[in-house]
Amino acid sequence: MNTFDNGVRSTRGPVVALVPAAGRGVRLGANMPKAFVPVGGSPMVRLAVEGLLASGVVDRILVMVPAELVEGAGSVLPRSDAVRVIVGGIERTDSVRAGLVAAPDAAYFLVHDAARALTPPELIVRVAAELEAGHSAVVPAVAVADTIKSVDAAGVVTGTPDRSGLRAIQTPQGFTADVLRAAYASAGVAATDDAGLVERLGVAVRTIAGDPLAFKITTPLDLRLAEAVLAGSDLTGTVAR
Ligand code: CTP
Ligand code: MG
Repeated sequence: MNTFDNGVRSTRGPVVALVPAAGRGVRLGANMPKAFVPVGGSPMVRLAVEGLLASGVVDRILVMVPAELVEGAGSVLPRSDAVRVIVGGIERTDSVRAGLVAAPDAAYFLVHDAARALTPPELIVRVAAELEAGHSAVVPAVAVADTIKSVDAAGVVTGTPDRSGLRAIQTPQGFTADVLRAAYASAGVAATDDAGLVERLGVAVRTIAGDPLAFKITTPLDLRLAEAVLAGSDLTGTVAR
């Protein structure tokens, strides 16, 4: 069992990280599934798994990848008995569900996108510590910089929600195993994040301060930004805080 936060140990059982890495990366448009695209010379999924290992709060890591990459994924991941590769699914929720099935003994889950390759281990530690403190659902959140508007099918603005009440949500998202299993058991439709399914159960989802470096690499511009951060360019100071 791992140390959660300055010597506090998980008392309930294994902390299992689920790393969805089975997406196609359509928006990035590389010639391979996104999680396997290198950033600073390492595939995104490797960086994400290294971050989880470095956090010291995770007992096991399950990585969900496209079926054709299950064989080869081991060679790009850190060598560790704690890391296992399994086949993902068509939608992100299908990939997470595959991880849930493969970890029947988990007490906590940390669901962490491979595409958030630069996530600082310190953020992972903070999410885990909130779980250990008794919260059943914990997500990192950052303030929204742009004004957000709702639009109708024709693109005409229908409203402007108060930005001060909006947050962009990152990963890792932490849940007690019971809560995440219940959310997936009742899930009929795909969701873009796991907390969205937990909210539908009526369970309170706690937000903690996210980190700009936990941004999701989605587009070619995001990839260039991640490369610049890893290269230690002048951007680092701007992006870090
Ligand atoms: N993911 C997954 N299984 C899927 C779809 C997505 O495991 N069927 C993973 C991705 O690999 C990624 C994370 O979920 O690490 C977040 O998804 P996203 O950023 O949308 O990645 P892709 O689906 O690969 O990108 P796109 O939507 O542009 O195709
Ligand atoms: Mg996607």
